[in-house]
Amino acid sequence: MTKPLTEGPPTQEPLKLGIAGLGTVGAGLLRLLETHGQVLSARLGRAIEVTAVCARDKTKDRGVCLDGMSWYDDAAKLALAEEIDVFVELIGGEEGAARSSVEAALKAGKHVVTANKALLAHHGNELALLAEENNVALNFEAAVAGGIPIIKTMREGLAGNGVARVYGIMNGTCNFILTKMQNESRDFAEVLSEAQAMGYAEADPSFDVGGIDTAHKLALLTTLAFGTEVAFDDIHIEGIEAISSADIEAADELGYRIKLLGVAMATDEGIEQRVHPTMVPKESPIAQVSGVTNCVAVDGDFSGDLLLVGPGAGAGATASAVMSDIADIARGLVFAPFNLPSSHIKPYTRARLNAHQGAYYIRLSVFDKPGAMAAIATHLGEQGVSLESIVQRRPRAALPGIDARGEPGAPTSLILITHETTEQSIRAALEAIGKDDKLAAPPQMIRIEKL
Ligand code: NAP
Ligand code: HSE
Repeated sequence: MTKPLTEGPPTQEPLKLGIAGLGTVGAGLLRLLETHGQVLSARLGRAIEVTAVCARDKTKDRGVCLDGMSWYDDAAKLALAEEIDVFVELIGGEEGAARSSVEAALKAGKHVVTANKALLAHHGNELALLAEENNVALNFEAAVAGGIPIIKTMREGLAGNGVARVYGIMNGTCNFILTKMQNESRDFAEVLSEAQAMGYAEADPSFDVGGIDTAHKLALLTTLAFGTEVAFDDIHIEGIEAISSADIEAADELGYRIKLLGVAMATDEGIEQRVHPTMVPKESPIAQVSGVTNCVAVDGDFSGDLLLVGPGAGAGATASAVMSDIADIARGLVFAPFNLPSSHIKPYTRARLNAHQGAYYIRLSVFDKPGAMAAIATHLGEQGVSLESIVQRRPRAALPGIDARGEPGAPTSLILITHETTEQSIRAALEAIGKDDKLAAPPQMIRIEKL
């Protein structure tokens, strides 16, 4: 049974926070407390005090006042400090100071609030158990989709539902890049630098563009949706690095937008978890989600289909989510981290991606020679793949050493949209097409999601 582990009215004592990490999110949280501290105290019936902080560089100007707060160089020492009730981990990273300090805090019986999806995706099962054993909170609203209250929605608002699928745009950096490439024809690298300057990107931005950050978040939503162990290693992950302006233009002409989606769904085989660029119909609500905005859709059996939309990254939105976790603790609410006691969490069974069914976009750069199209059609036919549409484009740019004026033999772009088929069939067909030496570049394949 899931119930608040701590019951009764909150004490009137101030709730004392130790904040480890004073970067984008940590400084954002301090600013939020400066702005709304008084009204929060009134709402919660007790003051929220930051008694201690920790970061690497004590001399750095963070644009916030640290007067009256103890300074710690070592996050694990802060985690154990008598002067704090709640350890707020805003350092980041799945190992190192973040992991050791969170473990130390839980073992010492301190509540933990974290925005660290990497830590939870890799060690969430053990940390949740540690929190339960010590009867303390391990709250992580900010770890998924920034300012969108999706953890509370799934844990509380949708408590009475069976979930068939949870999916969404969960990386602000990628959505920002794809939107700018679409709307402003901007270059990938340039837009990534802008996302970094705005504080959206991870310390290592390859986690964003490589789909890993989305997978970290998806792993947590999967556990909340299906009550299974956190299974990050079982996620199929593709990033947006291979998405070109040619794909964005073709998608537009065919009535689609390209979004990096994380999708978790129950199938007869088990749970399918996948992160990949996805074509969504232009008129769908998810296609309208642009810039750093995220969205998460939940298909609940009693609630119906929900879509939550909001800012997915940045100081303010993330601090807002962190604060909501602190508010629960201030109110005396402590839930099992994944909404079920660890003893009720089920083992994870992975559904093979090869069994995935859907339609596909395929872009082939084909040497325009007699018989090339026929060979491609034959390979698709052999795998039972039928086509909804086919577009052949005159080449726009030359490959090195190849004539691009549409002369016979120059590569031409062939864009195919399939009817629903299986991943196995598409992969087999593309492998056979690739072996024919008729392609000037590896094939591009993007899944089309049924919404
Ligand atoms: P950030 O700007 O890079 O800040 C990291 C902070 O941690 C810095 O203050 C740094 O100290 C401190 N730090 C690093 N290593 C440390 C160590 N060994 N001991 C003590 N302090 C250490 O990162 P962020 O963007 O705020 O992200 C923090 C966490 O929130 C990450 O888990 C991230 O994934 C998550 N998150 C971020 C966002 C976002 O929009 N940025 C949104 C949702 C979740 P110095 O300042 O002295 O270098
Ligand atoms: N780097 C992440 C993003 C931060 O761009 O979405 C929020 O988790």
